[in-house]
Amino acid sequence: MLGNHLLEIKNLKIDVRVTKTRRLSIVDTASLIIEPGEIIGLIGESGSGKTMLCRSLVGTLGRRGAYIASGELKFDGIDLITAKQSVWNDIRGKRIGYVPQSALAGPNPVMTIGAQLAEAILQDENFPKSDVEKRSLELLNIVQIRRPETVLKQYQHELSGGMKQRVMIACAIAQQPQLIVADEPTTGLDVTVQAEIMELLKQIRKDFNTSIILVSHDLPLINEICDDIVIMHAGTTVEKIPSKSIKASKHPYTLALYNSRIDLVLPKGQLKTINGQPPSVGSWPEGCRFSERCDFVKDKCRTKQDLPLIEIGSNHQTSCLRYDEIAR
Ligand SMILES: Nc1ncnc2c1ncn2[C@@H]1O[C@H](COP(=O)(O)OP(=O)(O)OP(=O)(O)O)[C@@H](O)[C@H]1O
Ligand SMILES: [Mg+2]
Repeated sequence: MLGNHLLEIKNLKIDVRVTKTRRLSIVDTASLIIEPGEIIGLIGESGSGKTMLCRSLVGTLGRRGAYIASGELKFDGIDLITAKQSVWNDIRGKRIGYVPQSALAGPNPVMTIGAQLAEAILQDENFPKSDVEKRSLELLNIVQIRRPETVLKQYQHELSGGMKQRVMIACAIAQQPQLIVADEPTTGLDVTVQAEIMELLKQIRKDFNTSIILVSHDLPLINEICDDIVIMHAGTTVEKIPSKSIKASKHPYTLALYNSRIDLVLPKGQLKTINGQPPSVGSWPEGCRFSERCDFVKDKCRTKQDLPLIEIGSNHQTSCLRYDEIAR
């Protein structure tokens, strides 16, 4: 039974239909909780299931031939697994805003920015059409775009990467959602623009008490802005830890990510990498899926078993069996 949080994901399993009879698990098992006004960073290697988990929150798994096979998923008390289309219509884009991973490819190339913002605003069918331009300008101001009147008439190819991302965020906040899911909103942007987008997200949280799930590969970046970090590996959430305690991680995968941070490399020093490759979907090993690459591995880690997140400290959960022996 789930408690009363803004978003609660418990042991979520997402499968894809590979053929008529064959199913493949791509997320198994993911758990996370988010409270109002909280920023959670979701981090993990490519293919670990971050985007599929995000898609489950806006009900668009079906577009990728995927579906929720089991587990629990609740938003503000609403069961999203059994939600009907009419319920989704009230949630997707309205109460949960989404900045998709491909957002840097930009807003729709054949629509003006004004037309796209109008579309986002008019998701609320009762919104007066005569106020759309005023609201569009207001949204562009919130995302700190200069000369908003000009930008409304422009197309995406006329905007810089940072401006495109600001427009995508403006669309995502048009309905003042309680939660924004931002899937790698700064990948591909230069570091200064990345920092500005992060500041913008922080400001939105401060002004509107919006909760944010921020997906990234960039641990230092996530560490700076997020309250808590959820680490994903091979379809599972393996640790949840407050950002400020990241050095005290009790999962070898998190520590390996931490130690391979590029900002830790000394001049002429060598960049540390994580041994081996992450196991591919469909060939996850039994037991701990990081066991093949782990410096702390013991036989017991490789035996078939569930590895749920266990509470080991204040707001700190890990799935590592050997957490009490791990030190950085
Ligand atoms: N329709 C599908 N059929 C089969 N496999 C799929 C399908 N969609 C996604 N996958 C696989 O599911 C896994 C998780 O994909 P997902 O896009 O969620 O990863 P990710 O963590 O977001 O990676 P990245 O950091 O590269 O964005 C990947 O291995 C991907 O290849
Ligand atoms: Mg992704």
